[in-house]
Amino acid sequence: MSDLLTTTAVGTHQARLDGPAKVRGLAPYAYEHPFDDPLFLYPLQAKIARGQAAHIDPSAAEAAEGVVHVLTHDNAPELADTDDGELAILRSAEIGFRGQYLGAVIATTPEQARHAASLIEITYAQDDHDVELREDHPASREPESGSGDDVRTGNVDTALAEAAVSIDERYSTPMEHNNPMEPHTTVALRDGDELTLWTSTQGVHPARATLAPILGVEQEKIRIISPHVGGGFGSKGLPHADMMLTALAAQAVPGRPVKYAVTRQQMFSITGYRAPTLQHIRLGARTDGTLTAFAYDAISMSSQTKEFPEESTKPGRMMYAGDNRRLTQRVVPLDVPVPSWMRAPGEASGMVGLEIAMDELAVAAGIDPIELRVRNDPTTDPDTGLPFNQRRLIDCLREGADRFGWEKRNPQPRARQENGWFVGMGVASATYPASRQPGSVARIRRTPEGFEVSIGAADLGTGTWTVLSQTAADALGVPIGQVDLRIGDTALPNATVAGGSTGLASWSTAIVTAAQELRSEHGADPAIGAEAHGEAEANPAAEKFALHSFGAHFAEVRIQPTTGEIRLRRMFGMFSAGRIVNPTTARSQLIGGMTMGVGMALHEKGELDPRFGHVVNHDLAEYHVPVNADITDIEADWLDEKDPQAGPLGARGVGEIGIVGAAAAIANAAFNATGVRVRDLPIFGDAFL
Ligand code: MOS
Repeated sequence: MSDLLTTTAVGTHQARLDGPAKVRGLAPYAYEHPFDDPLFLYPLQAKIARGQAAHIDPSAAEAAEGVVHVLTHDNAPELADTDDGELAILRSAEIGFRGQYLGAVIATTPEQARHAASLIEITYAQDDHDVELREDHPASREPESGSGDDVRTGNVDTALAEAAVSIDERYSTPMEHNNPMEPHTTVALRDGDELTLWTSTQGVHPARATLAPILGVEQEKIRIISPHVGGGFGSKGLPHADMMLTALAAQAVPGRPVKYAVTRQQMFSITGYRAPTLQHIRLGARTDGTLTAFAYDAISMSSQTKEFPEESTKPGRMMYAGDNRRLTQRVVPLDVPVPSWMRAPGEASGMVGLEIAMDELAVAAGIDPIELRVRNDPTTDPDTGLPFNQRRLIDCLREGADRFGWEKRNPQPRARQENGWFVGMGVASATYPASRQPGSVARIRRTPEGFEVSIGAADLGTGTWTVLSQTAADALGVPIGQVDLRIGDTALPNATVAGGSTGLASWSTAIVTAAQELRSEHGADPAIGAEAHGEAEANPAAEKFALHSFGAHFAEVRIQPTTGEIRLRRMFGMFSAGRIVNPTTARSQLIGGMTMGVGMALHEKGELDPRFGHVVNHDLAEYHVPVNADITDIEADWLDEKDPQAGPLGARGVGEIGIVGAAAAIANAAFNATGVRVRDLPIFGDAFL
């Protein structure tokens, strides 16, 4: 499989195969699965951040019209495994965060369920809570689930003291919330000892593998169906408590389907979020800008209920050279909802601090920020010592600079004014690991019409359906119209999660392997009914190479000095992501990531009220995300390349790299415009007043 696939469909523009059904309203989303007599669930949520629900009186709800069942910790089904604090819900009266599920009302209509839930009296015994992240927090500790130990190489303090140029600054990123258009939804039906979930998830098999042991059910007794997903961004990557709550409700009312759509407001405490980070970065360099000292100490907020580290130090491990290095990652578990994946967890927040810090070092050294990055581009991965697969950061920076018109930038802040607005340009690097997960299996079967290709993969609206069909078409040597791809169902062969930008590399490897199997067993024109399986194994290249994608973001902003208003004028991202399977869907992924980066830079911040422990701006009216008027001119392009280390397609994932570094490019442009250095995101206008 070292030979890259000969391609006809791969690499060409292809409109999304699921598009027509979606725009005609014919694509079935989980909540829409039709039933004659569904029941509806409305949850009970804790109104304190720590303590006990000392008494829950369900009687008024039980007497209300349409109510079939009231679920609380007093009557919830037993769980076989309670180690996962987020998913082992309704075990006791204990409350670990505001918004935690305390129960649910199941009724004949959604309105009846919601009304009955409002009738339930809950008596609280409140304890003191702590929801405030700070650098010197006594509970700060090493993450138990982190991806790497501290790095301590050489002597950073000495190197910093002796450095000709240095910076020593603190950066922060706020609480940020995934808001896919389709909220998290589940319909659960228990039929005898079998449980079926129609749900919105980034991975049907991983979700089943997580839920089954907690419920104490054989995996084979659970089926999860999720053909279409209306966005995920990581928030549907791991099952959250809403899926478990609906599953428990279905256990309690066997034979009746239970529907639950998480409301937008509930999402802010139930379905994960990007944890806020505090990043202390110290860089020391020679007069020519080459790094001698690299110190990065980061802390992220975590939850007492379950640990999740937002490891902002991750990209710092491999981005730049420097002999004396120190990286530490800590978490502070607080009485807050459980954080989780949000597009490029770790990288997205880490490349805010690091890429603003590099811009500050460039200013301190009097060197162009692109040139500074070029001078600090390592020949081998500073973290593992391995060579990179294709480290083309410099190509991205130089090609991107050309395309963006970087030569027009005046390095002097406040030098460019147009119609009373200060105008500036900024740059930042992007990076994301290029991983493949082992374990996905594809089955290909010859049918009268062509080939049925089955794999339990997920399409979050990203184009998976389309690019996997393109892959299968080329692997089988047939037009794409002869491929009937089936995804999103545990009844299909096992697939790994649509996460970590691993989906394409993992699933396509299984499909190409299955196609090769089919051809070797049954020839180039197999008889109808012939079938073969193929499994994606771990990428052997991962032992010899540090596998990453790279990119460079360029932003131009204008800032009105009297009002402080900041507007993005244009943005361009140049990426190195291996072969691009479908330019149409890849561009959407990249500019979608960049748009979320604009949100990080200029809009998004969950305001956690320390008095009560909840996110106050918990809806799209007050939690701001960029809209069309904020995104005037965003474009992405990529280097024409194939990565022989990435697998049979030569393609790396593009789901996450678009967001990484995007916010820093905007912050750096704001500095170039005004001379004001903003180190705490998001950038609000008062910074410039
Ligand atoms: Mo992505 S945040 O790994 O779904």
